[in-house]
Amino acid sequence: MTTRRPLVIGNWKMNLDFVEALHLVQQLGVLMKNRPVEHTDVVVAAPFVDLRSVSSIIDSERFAIGLCAQHVNAQENGPHTGEISTSMLTRLNVEWVLVGHSERRVHYFMSDEIVADTLRSVVRAGQHAVLCVGEELSVRENGEHEAFVAAQLESALHGLDEKFHALLTVAYEPLWAIGTGVNATVEQVHEMTAHLRKVLRSMSFSAPQVLYGGSVNTENAATLVRESDVDGFLVGGASLKAESFYAILQACDDCYAIKR
Ligand code: 13P
Repeated sequence: MTTRRPLVIGNWKMNLDFVEALHLVQQLGVLMKNRPVEHTDVVVAAPFVDLRSVSSIIDSERFAIGLCAQHVNAQENGPHTGEISTSMLTRLNVEWVLVGHSERRVHYFMSDEIVADTLRSVVRAGQHAVLCVGEELSVRENGEHEAFVAAQLESALHGLDEKFHALLTVAYEPLWAIGTGVNATVEQVHEMTAHLRKVLRSMSFSAPQVLYGGSVNTENAATLVRESDVDGFLVGGASLKAESFYAILQACDDCYAIKR
């Protein structure tokens, strides 16, 4: 792990209605109050319809949990039936947005161009953009994974005004590791985070924060964080239960406290 303050984001995907979401945040908040997570930033990426109630409970209970949207439309407003804009998210105290998650790229036709436009809308709204990149198994088997993710970074970030650089976080999520129970190994994560940082530095990003996502759980989180130089995690399935998500937060926190 690097000596940067870790960040862990729970991506609930299309799970939890607003009542279930409230329950989960309440449980997580209580765990965090009983034994605070001192060195790790904690964020949850809730479905759109949960954001208002989750925002209210975080606010009223003063939980140290940031709020993230899983997607947003690149346009400001207008005839985009079914879509949500960054200004709508701002009104709900959303400070983070996932951009270009592979499930949106693959199943909802989010092209590289739309990813780039969306990322610009997010940072212009003053929100943190979590740019998701990652390769299919066949790309890795062909040895093209490094070139593939470098191209994803280039196309999303090329020409981005430097004043927005501090709002960028990159999440490496190989598609073959998402929801499969097969996480990337320490070596694979280590290699890829180093590669992503190198590409980002060549594009003049000075201190890019790089997360890993893909079957992160209570068993592998501590090893991954201890033995690679990842800055934290984007967690799917294991973020749906307060105990397992909290255990991942603790793993990051303990590791950071030791390494600092
Ligand atoms: P899982 O942790 O369920 O594999 O999901 C990873 C992911 O896609 C997070 O965005």
